[in-house]
Amino acid sequence: MKNNALLLEINDLKTYFYLDEGVLKAVDGVSFKIKREKTLGLVGESGCGKSVTAQSILRIVPHPGKTEGEILFHQNNKKVIDLARLDPFGKEIRNIRGNEITMIFQEPMTSLSPLHTIGNQIMEAILLHQKINKQKARRLAIEMLDKVGIPIPSQRIDEYPHQLSGGLRQRAMIAMALCCKPNLLIADEPTTALDVTVQAQILELMKDLQKEFGMSIIYITHNLGVIAEITDEVAVMYLGKIVEYGSIDEIFHNPLHPYTVRLLKSIPKVGRKARMRLESIKGAVPLPLGLPRGCRFYPRCPQFKEGLCNLDNPPLVEVQEKHKVRCFLFG
Ligand SMILES: Nc1ncnc2c1ncn2[C@@H]1O[C@H](COP(=O)(O)OP(=O)(O)OP(=O)(O)O)[C@@H](O)[C@H]1O
Ligand SMILES: [Mg+2]
Repeated sequence: MKNNALLLEINDLKTYFYLDEGVLKAVDGVSFKIKREKTLGLVGESGCGKSVTAQSILRIVPHPGKTEGEILFHQNNKKVIDLARLDPFGKEIRNIRGNEITMIFQEPMTSLSPLHTIGNQIMEAILLHQKINKQKARRLAIEMLDKVGIPIPSQRIDEYPHQLSGGLRQRAMIAMALCCKPNLLIADEPTTALDVTVQAQILELMKDLQKEFGMSIIYITHNLGVIAEITDEVAVMYLGKIVEYGSIDEIFHNPLHPYTVRLLKSIPKVGRKARMRLESIKGAVPLPLGLPRGCRFYPRCPQFKEGLCNLDNPPLVEVQEKHKVRCFLFG
C-alpha cells in the first residue's frame, strides 16, 4: 500500500443534537484528512466535540443527534464510501464498524462484557467478520493477546475481564479492536485512567502495532503531552470547530492560537516544582447551545479584541504549509 495514500477525508462535518433547549452544535463544520499508516491527534478540553466526531465517523451518534457533511472512507479495493450517507443501522456500516474501523475507549468495560471471557469476546469479533472456524479463531485470539503483551495468553484467554488488572484489561480491549486488522483505529482517551508507567507502555504498544498492521490512528485526548510520541499531525478543537491544525512539531514549537498556547501551558512537566500550580484556562467550556456571534473562544481569550473577535467567526487560514489557524491575530 502506498504510504501517503488517503484513508479518510472528512468535509464540513456537522453533528447537531436537536434538544428541547435548542440545537446543540457538538461538531460544527469539521474537515480533516488522514493518510494511511499515519496518526492524527484530536485534542481539546472536555466538551469540545472530540468523542462526537468519533461517533459520527462510526455512525453511532445517539438520538437526537444528526450528522451532515462528508466522511469519505477509501477502502482497500479503491472504492470510496461516504459513511455519512449510510444507514446507521444498515449492513454496510456494520461490515465496516468493528472490522475496517474500530474504536477503543478510556474505560475497557465500555467494549468488554463482564459476562463473557475475553477469549470468547475476541473470537466473536473475529467470527463476525471472517469466514473461519472456531478453532482457527481461538488461535488468532491467542496470537492477538500475545501481541498486545498479555502473559501466558493460552491460559488468560479463558479469564473474565474482572480477573485482569486495569492495564491488562486495556490490552485485551486493544486486542479485540485489532483482531480484524482495521485500517483505522479510533482511540478515545485510551490511557487516561492508567498510571503513567502503564500509559507509556500502552502508547508504545499502539505504536508498534500500528507499524505491524499498517493502520491509521485517530488519537483523542485532552492532554497534548500524551500525544507527542504517537501523532504526526494534530487538530486542536474548541466548541465543535478545529481552531488549529498542524504537524506535531509546529503545534508544540510554534503554537499560534491562544487556545493552543494555553493548552500547552497546562501540560504537567517533569521537574516543575511540586507546589507550582499548572496554568489552567480561564473559565469553562460552555455548552455549544445558542452561541453568540464571533469567535467561540473570545470570552476566555487573553488576547480578545473588542469590535473584532466578538463580531465575526474567524476562518481557518493556512499561515504556512500544513499549519492552519482560526484566529484574527493571524490574518
Ligand atoms: N448524546 C448527547 N446528547 C446531547 N448532547 C451531547 C451528547 N453527547 C455529547 N453531547 C454534547 O456535545 C458536546 C461535545 O461532547 P463530546 O462528548 O464530543 O466532548 P469531548 O470533547 O469528547 O469531551 P471529553 O473530553 O469530556 O470526553 C458537549 O457539549 C456535550 O454536552
Ligand atoms: Mg470524549
